[in-house]
Amino acid sequence: MAQTRITDHKKEEIRDAADIVDVVSDYVKLKKAGGAFTGLCPFHNERTPSFYVTPRLGIFKCFGCGEGGDVFNFVMKMEGVGFVEAMRSLAGRYNIELPEEESSESADAQTQLVEGIYHALRFAGVYYHQTLAAEDSAAAARDYIGRRGLTAATTRKWGVGYAPDAFDAFYKHALSSGINETYLHEAGLIKYSEQNQQVYDTFRGRLMFPIFSPSGKVIGFGGRIMEGGKGPKYINSPQTKVYNKSEVIYGIHMARNEIRKHDQSILVEGYMDVISLWQHGVTNVVATSGTSITPEQMRRLANYSPNLLMVYDADNAGQNAMLRGLDVALQAGLHVRLMHLPDGEDPDSFVQQFGAESFINYTRKEAKDFISFMVQHAEDKGEWDDPMSRKQVVSRILASIARVSDQVLRETLIGHLRKMTGIGERALYAELGSLAAAVRQEEARAIDRERRAQQREMQGGAPHPAEGQFQNPGSGGASAPAGAGVPRTRPVQVRRPAAEKEIIRLMIEHGDGMIYYVGNLIGPDYFTDPELRQFYEAITACYEQEIPATIEHFTAMEPPFPRLVSEVFIEQFAVSEVGNAKRSRSILRDTDPYATARGAVKSLALQYLSQQIEQVNQQLSYAGEDERSELYRSITELRKTRLQIEKSHADALYPAPDEMP
Ligand code: CTP
Ligand code: MN
Repeated sequence: MAQTRITDHKKEEIRDAADIVDVVSDYVKLKKAGGAFTGLCPFHNERTPSFYVTPRLGIFKCFGCGEGGDVFNFVMKMEGVGFVEAMRSLAGRYNIELPEEESSESADAQTQLVEGIYHALRFAGVYYHQTLAAEDSAAAARDYIGRRGLTAATTRKWGVGYAPDAFDAFYKHALSSGINETYLHEAGLIKYSEQNQQVYDTFRGRLMFPIFSPSGKVIGFGGRIMEGGKGPKYINSPQTKVYNKSEVIYGIHMARNEIRKHDQSILVEGYMDVISLWQHGVTNVVATSGTSITPEQMRRLANYSPNLLMVYDADNAGQNAMLRGLDVALQAGLHVRLMHLPDGEDPDSFVQQFGAESFINYTRKEAKDFISFMVQHAEDKGEWDDPMSRKQVVSRILASIARVSDQVLRETLIGHLRKMTGIGERALYAELGSLAAAVRQEEARAIDRERRAQQREMQGGAPHPAEGQFQNPGSGGASAPAGAGVPRTRPVQVRRPAAEKEIIRLMIEHGDGMIYYVGNLIGPDYFTDPELRQFYEAITACYEQEIPATIEHFTAMEPPFPRLVSEVFIEQFAVSEVGNAKRSRSILRDTDPYATARGAVKSLALQYLSQQIEQVNQQLSYAGEDERSELYRSITELRKTRLQIEKSHADALYPAPDEMP
């Protein structure tokens, strides 16, 4: 009883201290909307925000997938842990003392596994760190750290450690301390040799950099080789249930508030670069740790600030990696600046030699928008004077601009490029158009891949036998940590709205005249089905580029287009009663295809308005007193419009093609 009272009391203390907006902001870019905040739900895939956080009530709610709860539920769901562990996590974050206590016994198997992995990782972090601090075997490592200029305080703060150069020293120590072998293995800390089933440590004779989650939990390690050591320069933790390389940003737990404060993040290549800049007081700094930059990493970074400064090593490998990363960052909507350090330097060596002030001054002078950077880069390499190679550089720049989805920004960039090159805007836009289409196609492919993965997941691909014991049939995967690379459950859209398919069919069947007509009545926003919206955009892109938007054209394209074409055209001719009825109806309707189009547009408009009304209604349930009356007014407005459209015949609502402007 007494135990429960302490917990209840602590729970309230933590709830009071924890700022739910702050906690959620580690994963979601929140925008203020009245008394609430909204953003894209981290628990399912969506393009328009239906996720709300209400700080006054201390709760979050997603109207798309239904997830909701308080700050504890959010952490449990996000980190895949049970209540006690979530409390511990928040207590640590807000400096509240919590008595050490066994984990809750009621947790399900999946939650227990994840907590066990976290525990093993924390244990390893402490072990490596203490080894570095005190063991004889780590003397050389201590020397090395000293020569690299890291202070004891920095080493402590970042948990830097040393893995002894022994076959299984860590494994033995962990076992004798009562750590479960399964957890050690699932955490990627030990390995089994193939022939004789021996157990050995993953990290041996390496300098250890713990990798932390945004909330400061150890989720993996990067191990740097020592001088004279064998093997690759770095070994990083394998993918585990809590460590997904493609999502992790090294240093984010230290940098996140600094990034908000400076409204900029500085992205560097290496662990040492991050730590070294941090030690010198440049604190809004992170790295991507052992991978090329991924879209997910950039989306996460964008949560804290839209502004990104990339400072990679001043060698060919570094500069090329930076330019590859640039495109990913631009596509994630980041405003990117790039900087070239003096030849042969990296951020670590620069700041160690010249100090933080010089580094900051250098960024003020040398950081450039990416267009100026690439032009400068070409000038340095002598590629700017030769017309042929200059053309290639311009194309390369346009390819990057094509990644930018914000239209205003894209036009600003084209203006900038025009000024730098003297090339006319028309020519620049012409090339940009086809490049942008390629980017869209690539995005479409990615979405298709994801959709197929979701479908496989929904069909319940047989669980790996070794994982069987951890599967929780009732949870539908809901207890997996969302940040940990475990498949999440997402709603799968099976039926597509008939009117949306109809519009697509008409545009393809009747060509340019119809595309122009429909394009004047609606926009992509009217489509609720994301793939049909994409299809619509692809058709209008064809029109703009004067490419015939034919069935053949789209069946030859990358996924999902061939499948969409068959859904739009073939399904309705299926041999069935319904199919036949639909077929004859659609043929009848097509005696005046423009009238058919008006009918379909009308139903899209109604659906669009209903969606708008639904959205405002959602806002209403969170709005403060002051905004309510305005929201009511707009609902009334929207309802009136909807009623008008409902009552009118489509022919009265929309002009015939010959009355079109
Ligand atoms: N990296 C990696 N695996 C490698 C080499 C590099 O994962 N085999 C990653 C590490 O995250 C590393 C970063 O790429 O921090 C940059 O690599 P590099 O510049 O070679 O190393 P530094 O961290 O700068 O190390 P140092 O300064 O000690 O040379
Ligand atoms: Mn480096």
